[in-house]
Amino acid sequence: MSFPSLTRKLWGTEFVSPVMLASGTSGFGEELFKLGCLTGAGAVVSKAVTLKPRSGNPPPRLLETPFGLLNSIGLANPGAQHVLEHILPAVSNLPCPLVINVAGESVQEFADVISVLKESAVHIGYEINVSCPNVAEGGAAFGVDPEVVFRVSEAVSQVADRPFSVKLTPNGGDMVQAAVAAQKGGASAVTVCNTFLGMKIDWKTGKSVIKRKVAGYTSPALLPLVVARVWQVSNAVSVPVISSGGVSCGQDVLQLLAAGAEMVQVGTRLMRRPCAAGELLDEMKKLTGEQ
Ligand SMILES: Cc1cc2nc3c(=O)[nH]c(=O)nc-3n(C[C@H](O)[C@H](O)[C@H](O)COP(=O)(O)O)c2cc1C
Repeated sequence: MSFPSLTRKLWGTEFVSPVMLASGTSGFGEELFKLGCLTGAGAVVSKAVTLKPRSGNPPPRLLETPFGLLNSIGLANPGAQHVLEHILPAVSNLPCPLVINVAGESVQEFADVISVLKESAVHIGYEINVSCPNVAEGGAAFGVDPEVVFRVSEAVSQVADRPFSVKLTPNGGDMVQAAVAAQKGGASAVTVCNTFLGMKIDWKTGKSVIKRKVAGYTSPALLPLVVARVWQVSNAVSVPVISSGGVSCGQDVLQLLAAGAEMVQVGTRLMRRPCAAGELLDEMKKLTGEQ
């Protein structure tokens, strides 16, 4: 069988690699750039940006488990205006494209964040995080209801002047229906998927170790769950699918491409291997024989 090229084209942009750095695991890319760790990265996806600054959740925010990581960051970020004025100018020289991850508590907030950020020319597009709670409508994640996903996607497409991917949730609802709804609303891609809900309870106290009770769980063991979802979603939509979750080696990336992903994100692995993007690309080149 012939393998897909490892250089990619998406949204009219050329990428040196299918590997994107997943939201929340590399800030806006500046630190990894200084360490020389963006070599081999196709793109950086930023930490989530909300309209107002958010201080995030109380500690502990990260908790290692025997086979993975629980995170409860709580979308800590300095807010859209600060990102526009101070952060984006500082990352205008990244060696790879930047995508901004956007979060909100209402359909309108997603559009409002983009209205602020569109003043900058630094980023090539957006990733819309519909895993956060829809506070304005009862608190369930936006992503569990295809009708709400459609409305978010439509609201974003009315204001965004560049492409956007809707990052779906695996925690409730039908992800295939949500992906179809995102496409119908105008999304230029879908990201499959955000973290799986997880929890750690101290059996001596009976209480959750994480103050917000449930957290996002990531682990290489989740790879088959992500492969299945990427395969299902890519058979149902015509927009590109970006995978997110479970990657720990070059074979994993190639498997996700074979499942139908156009681009493949890597996140938790960066905590141990900050230069993972280049390492994964080198591994894939060896495996496929591409120079
Ligand atoms: C510490 C941490 C922070 C994260 N923050 C965000 C975020 O702000 N927005 C978002 O959409 N996903 C966020 N994620 C999810 C990742 O972008 C990614 O989808 C997930 O970690 C799965 O990929 P992995 O298995 O390679 O880690 C975060 C994940 C981690 C571990």
